[in-house]
Amino acid sequence: KTVAVIMMGGPTKGTRFRPLSFNLAKPLFPLAGQPMVHHPILACKKIPDLAQVYLIGFYEEKEFSLYISALSNDLKVPVRYLREDKPHGSAGGLYNFQDLLMEDDPTDIVVLNCDVCCSFPLTAMLEAHRKHGGIGTLLVKKVSKEVASEFGELVADTKTGELLHYAEKPETFVSDFINCGVYVFTPEIFNAIKNVSSSKHEISSLRRMSSFEALHTATNSRAMQADFVRLDQDILTPLAGKKKLYTFETNDFWEQIKTPGMSLRCSSLYLAQYRVTMPELLASGDGNRSPTIIGDVFIHRSAKVHPTAKLGPNVSVSANARVGPGARLIGCIILDDVEIKENAVVMHSIVGWKSTLGKWARVQGGGDYNAKLGITILGEDVAVEDEVVVVNCIVLPHKTLNISVQDEIIL
Ligand code: GDD
Repeated sequence: KTVAVIMMGGPTKGTRFRPLSFNLAKPLFPLAGQPMVHHPILACKKIPDLAQVYLIGFYEEKEFSLYISALSNDLKVPVRYLREDKPHGSAGGLYNFQDLLMEDDPTDIVVLNCDVCCSFPLTAMLEAHRKHGGIGTLLVKKVSKEVASEFGELVADTKTGELLHYAEKPETFVSDFINCGVYVFTPEIFNAIKNVSSSKHEISSLRRMSSFEALHTATNSRAMQADFVRLDQDILTPLAGKKKLYTFETNDFWEQIKTPGMSLRCSSLYLAQYRVTMPELLASGDGNRSPTIIGDVFIHRSAKVHPTAKLGPNVSVSANARVGPGARLIGCIILDDVEIKENAVVMHSIVGWKSTLGKWARVQGGGDYNAKLGITILGEDVAVEDEVVVVNCIVLPHKTLNISVQDEIIL
């Protein structure tokens, strides 16, 4: 049997995702019309012998309860949220719930970072994992040299795929192969975490003996705490080169979702994936009451889009949004309860919950997903009045814009 674990983090993480994470846990932010965490859950569902999916985080339970009950009805996947009382790190979080995770007596444990967007080739990874007989398999990808240092960089044996060397976000270049944050482990991983935790415990008690050190070193900093263990630097780095860890390369799409800009990019990647896996989710534009649709577009069934509006490519419209006559939407995420009045234009932007765009208003970004102001983001309940133009701005919740603005953060 296999169990899957999705590492969700908590409210003190994901700060780069503001202002979209003010009122909603980041894992629930919709990409291509489905909560971020829904995409890996769907991928887990395809695992043949899956017993359970666990979501581990330090968000409050109630933030996920609605989503999880809806999910269990729709998908018939046993999904459970396990709450940590505080951050234990990506490996410490797993270790904390060892007894629960082992209840179904799994042979393999799939572990996924919630904030990655990819095709999650889990079944193929599991097959590879069972063949090489190590304790862990990591999904890896070749990226450009310039961006590699934002991730865990690694060296693997070209023949066997064995992980030979691992460095987390190194300052000097190690390799353009990176850790994608998707893993398969055997239950032996718990022993590895336990060993790290015990040696941290020993080090910190030794340190505590010296009052000088206690005063002058960061003995109590989080990384030193015995129950705070990170999967990458605390587990992968020391186990590399010991014939215990192996890599599985993907040539498919892969991105990390740390910023609103990247959520827009990932939304379009998942829309493109629907074309192949679930084309029924994409708007067709057929029928005389439907708007003009270009490329990949998702429209929630409760949204009302005027037939003279034109949407796409890469547009996602959430529940109860209203899009008026002649409106034009390109490369954007329109969240719940937004109202877009006639002839307004939205390009390369995210329009927050309950916001309104007046007639002939224009909200747009340059489309550079990695730049700080590369897209425009309207927080919750922002009003853009008639004919106002907003270009490359981040607008915090509850603002009313009655004059045009460009390249600004509006607090
Ligand atoms: N439950 C829980 N508890 N989850 C956590 C905790 C924790 O204490 N700390 C981190 N996470 C979750 C995050 O929400 C995220 O999904 C995942 O664990 C990894 O987060 P970080 O440890 O902050 O690392 P990162 O995202 O900067 O980088 C990791 O992922 C990259 C791929 O996206 C590293 O493993 C990199 O090497 C890797 O390239």
